[in-house]
Amino acid sequence: MKKAPTSRVDKLLGSMGYGSRSEIARLGKVGGVVLDGADLTDVSKRIPVTPDLPSRLEIDGEPLDPVPGLVILLNKPLGMTCSHKEDGALVYDVLPDRWRRRDPAISTVGRLDKQTTGLLLLTDDGDLLHRIISPKRHVAKVYRATLARPLEGHEATLFASGALVLEGEEKPLAPAVLEPISPTEARLTVTEGRYHQVRRMFAAAGNHVDALHRERMGGLALPEDLPPGQWRLMTPDQIAAVFAEPSAP
Ligand code: URA
Repeated sequence: MKKAPTSRVDKLLGSMGYGSRSEIARLGKVGGVVLDGADLTDVSKRIPVTPDLPSRLEIDGEPLDPVPGLVILLNKPLGMTCSHKEDGALVYDVLPDRWRRRDPAISTVGRLDKQTTGLLLLTDDGDLLHRIISPKRHVAKVYRATLARPLEGHEATLFASGALVLEGEEKPLAPAVLEPISPTEARLTVTEGRYHQVRRMFAAAGNHVDALHRERMGGLALPEDLPPGQWRLMTPDQIAAVFAEPSAP
């Protein structure tokens, strides 16, 4: 088994947004850092950085935040932007404030438009992020689209053709699967992540997307009991499900 990396406690806490080295040293001196039930006054101690650390290390009486390598599943609400720096409401606003100072930073795994809702992953694990968004992996993204006009019947063939070229692009889209749900609602499964892809696909078919919701990535579905704006940390099994085939909706 791979050995866990070690880190000085003050360096680890600094990279997790708890404060500067000197602030953490001060906290250690007043009993604010507790490891395995005992005060840790020397915060320069090196410890293995293992996922169970939050159950062993307390900061100011609270369990340590999840250690680096965390993956968050958010039910993205309407009107929030997937950006670190734009004006207005950002998806990062729903996370604890301290997490903005984490290094490596937490980023969204791809983006959803401001007006798109549903399953959004965020992580500080750059390798995992790139594996999920890599076009080579073909991770299926499943969207439910509400349309301005009824489907005409030609859309499934057009989207499955592998020949549809979006406006302003040259490379055709990979085949995508459309399942009508009602005259003005459809589920669309795509394996790419081009800019505004689903909205532009329906525009190419002469329609307009009024509402868009991501239900699933690979074999990972948005949990039904997770309200908009709420998030949870993902387990290794749930992360692995992203790389599995989507099962029936
Ligand atoms: N396609 C879009 O058009 N918008 C999204 O947010 C995601 C996919």
